[in-house]
Amino acid sequence: MTLVAIGACYLDTILTAPYYPGEDEKLRASRISRRRGGNCPNTLEVLGQLLQYGPFSAESSLNLIAVLPSKSSVPCQQIQSSLGNMVRLDRCIYRERFSEPASSYIITSQTTGSRTIVNYNELPEMTRTEFATAVEPLRAVTDRPWFHFEGRAPDVTLECIRYLREYFPGAEISVEVEKPGRPGLRELADVADVVIYSKGWAQSNGYTSAEDCLRDQSLKTSQASLLCCTWGSDGAAALEPKTGNFAHVPAHTEGVGVVDTIGAGDTFNAGLLYGLIYRGRDWGFRKKLEFANLIAGLKVTQEGFTDLQ
Ligand code: FRU
Repeated sequence: MTLVAIGACYLDTILTAPYYPGEDEKLRASRISRRRGGNCPNTLEVLGQLLQYGPFSAESSLNLIAVLPSKSSVPCQQIQSSLGNMVRLDRCIYRERFSEPASSYIITSQTTGSRTIVNYNELPEMTRTEFATAVEPLRAVTDRPWFHFEGRAPDVTLECIRYLREYFPGAEISVEVEKPGRPGLRELADVADVVIYSKGWAQSNGYTSAEDCLRDQSLKTSQASLLCCTWGSDGAAALEPKTGNFAHVPAHTEGVGVVDTIGAGDTFNAGLLYGLIYRGRDWGFRKKLEFANLIAGLKVTQEGFTDLQ
């Protein structure tokens, strides 16, 4: 089974601070760490681990489509080595005139567990034509690929999804609706098969719980067979608009210290895609949600994404 994840790739610099500082304050962090980030790369890194334990077939392939700086730049090489040999980067779009990667500067607060992210990204966004050129060769390889979109640059993403509906009629398409206030995300949700909403997006749209968000959004998404919503310490929920199946699961972190919440949502997405794509009908609706929630819960109790098993 071929999965193509489309989204940005970041290099993250993470400062662990005792609390989140006020404006103009000076504060000493207790720790600094640097790692490759980005929603889709994080999701693929976790999926790469999950697939090592099966069911992994020779045709399974994990592909990233991200805009990256020059192939020969040091950051680009770091990005490649961070993803190992389970994730293919040969469909990425390399901007040869750029050497600065997309970067995030993140402050995590030891008091609240929050992670505040400031991004910098000078790489020109992918165009629909670049996307079509990158995925076109897959038509000869698979007729049922899965495309997962981070849901950035909604205008271009919408064009990419329209292209896929025309040229990959058997494809499944999932979309992450994450960033509060980003216009155009509702339109993306409306053309996707699977939609994953973040708590931040849901709250910014006036919803007070995952269930509230899903029940209302199910009236506004015409095509989706599955809607999910993560809600931090309140767990996650899923709804199948066509069958009416609904489930809510509590978070898995109670009683265990929260260590690192960066990429918890990305890990949830990996768990969900693993269930949907690689476990299919073997796992029921509730089990897929439980697994995604469990693996996201495991993630927040440890630093980074390695050895999540
Ligand atoms: C976490 C993350 C970070 C990255 C940022 C991009 O979800 O993907 O790794 O820097 O979000 O928005």
